[in-house]
Amino acid sequence: KKLAVFVSGGGSNFKSIHEASLKGLLHGDVLVLVTNKHDCGGAEYARNNGIPVVLFPKVKDGSDGLSPSELVDTLRSFQVDFILLAGFLKLIPVELIQAYEKSILNIHPSLLPAFGGKGYYGLKVHKAVIASGARYSGPTIHFVDEHYDTGRILAQRAVPVLANDTAEELASRVLKEEHRLYVEVVEALCEERIVWREDGVPLIRSKD
Ligand code: GRF
Repeated sequence: KKLAVFVSGGGSNFKSIHEASLKGLLHGDVLVLVTNKHDCGGAEYARNNGIPVVLFPKVKDGSDGLSPSELVDTLRSFQVDFILLAGFLKLIPVELIQAYEKSILNIHPSLLPAFGGKGYYGLKVHKAVIASGARYSGPTIHFVDEHYDTGRILAQRAVPVLANDTAEELASRVLKEEHRLYVEVVEALCEERIVWREDGVPLIRSKD
């Protein structure tokens, strides 16, 4: 399968997916990287690895950056099957959601629906988890709809919150699990092992 990854930051999830693909662990290849920040770590990694980088959305009062319909055309020109958001901080336009129905995933560093939505990104998520006294946190991978963090949940994994954890410590424990979980889920996606239950809940079929 052909994959597009969207990043705004360091791109460690993008790197782990790309590395898994290079090792032949996924039946998928990352064909294009989409970013709203040309100089972010993820974009740099893409350029160093010969993956084309596309800027989205249009930068205010600049000529750079694609419009939503240009983005859809670009992804189609790469024959992209699935879109993986990995720390992409912009809202996904409805044109893209309609063009790639049930084909866009996001990873979020908390057990959604807790600690999700517009204000919850980066360390803010982990600070709020610690302040709440929750004993477990962990990544959620979900399909993307037109709002932040509300699409159908596909996979989650619990990670303990330890006594005296700082937000940074919790973030790095969760991030390690993110890398494992995203690779597993993308593997299932590429192998067409996602099934939709009648009530609209997506499930992952295990390997036979
Ligand atoms: C991850 O914590 C992810 O859950 C969130 O943004 C972060 C991206 O990290 N959506 P990285 O850029 O993959 O290192």
